[in-house]
Amino acid sequence: MTAEPLEIHLTDEDLGRALRADVRAGLTAVPKWLPPKWFYDARGSELFERITRLPEYYPTRTERAVLAEHAGQIARITSVKTLIELGSGSSEKTRLLLDALTGRGDLGTFVPLDVSVSALRQSTAQIAADYPGLRVRGIVGDFTRHLDRLPTGGRRLVAFLGGTIGNLTPDERATFLRSTRTALEPGDWLLLGTDLVKDPGVLVPAYDDAAGVTAEFNRNVLRVLNRELGADFDPDAFDHVALWDPGRRWIEMRLRARSPQRVRVPALDLELDFAEGEELRTEISAKFRPEDVDAELGAAGFPVRARWTDPDGWYALTLAQAT
Ligand SMILES: C[S@@+](CC[C@H](N)C(=O)[O-])C[C@H]1O[C@@H](n2cnc3c(N)ncnc32)[C@H](O)[C@@H]1O
Repeated sequence: MTAEPLEIHLTDEDLGRALRADVRAGLTAVPKWLPPKWFYDARGSELFERITRLPEYYPTRTERAVLAEHAGQIARITSVKTLIELGSGSSEKTRLLLDALTGRGDLGTFVPLDVSVSALRQSTAQIAADYPGLRVRGIVGDFTRHLDRLPTGGRRLVAFLGGTIGNLTPDERATFLRSTRTALEPGDWLLLGTDLVKDPGVLVPAYDDAAGVTAEFNRNVLRVLNRELGADFDPDAFDHVALWDPGRRWIEMRLRARSPQRVRVPALDLELDFAEGEELRTEISAKFRPEDVDAELGAAGFPVRARWTDPDGWYALTLAQAT
């Protein structure tokens, strides 16, 4: 079966408007910041896929191993008709869930949602080809804005994998989880992948690999601003920085100006100065303790029904049910 045409809830115009608002707010703030969703143009999505295959980047292979072991159990417990995946990217690991759910004959529809059109086009075409009989409805949308557009009816499982929830601040997470709960009915399910707190000696290299792929991914956001807003950032004039903040339990990725820089952003009629050593925060990646995951899910109306981790306790998959 071929994938259905993508449902577009973010047109180029919406994206342009949102990018301009975020860049104006973030680059005029002190300290400067940008939200991580702007990494993911076609090149950014490809670079992320390369990151997932790096030796230092344990989250993808660890989550895949946990899913491989427990997908059958997840399918038995949930026996859903519709699988929705938020921030789906390539949906590569999700195939383990698709195999288990279609194997039982329950699943009728797969709905990946991502801000990246290029990632969705590829993943929906491949999944539709590999799972004949499965309805594949890709949604181009923002999981912080478009959860009210998710398909309704039937038993649903929302998967939010890859530790992407850690890219949200605690307040954003609470809002996101409440919106997810509002979009679902009692009895529907949420499967949440979270990276767990661990030795910084393991955490930091995952965001600062020896081959420099994460550094290129980080600088890619400047290329996006150059292309979309006519900005004149010199990406090579910024160093990639990854830091562990033990108090907030998150990794921060930053771009640090190697020398004083003046940058023009014509689409916003903005001129920005970076002092030498000044840093622009481009991503946080929060790491969790299992009890924090329970508390955040519980507060949003998702009591936890099951949790699975790898033998090292590095990564958790938590299954919660809307009440
Ligand atoms: C860390 S990657 C994870 C990808 C995949 N789920 C995995 O586990 O490998 C984050 C994904 O979320 C998407 N994304 C980031 N912010 C988003 C947003 N606000 N709305 C929708 N998708 C978003 C990105 O395009 C990317 O595909």
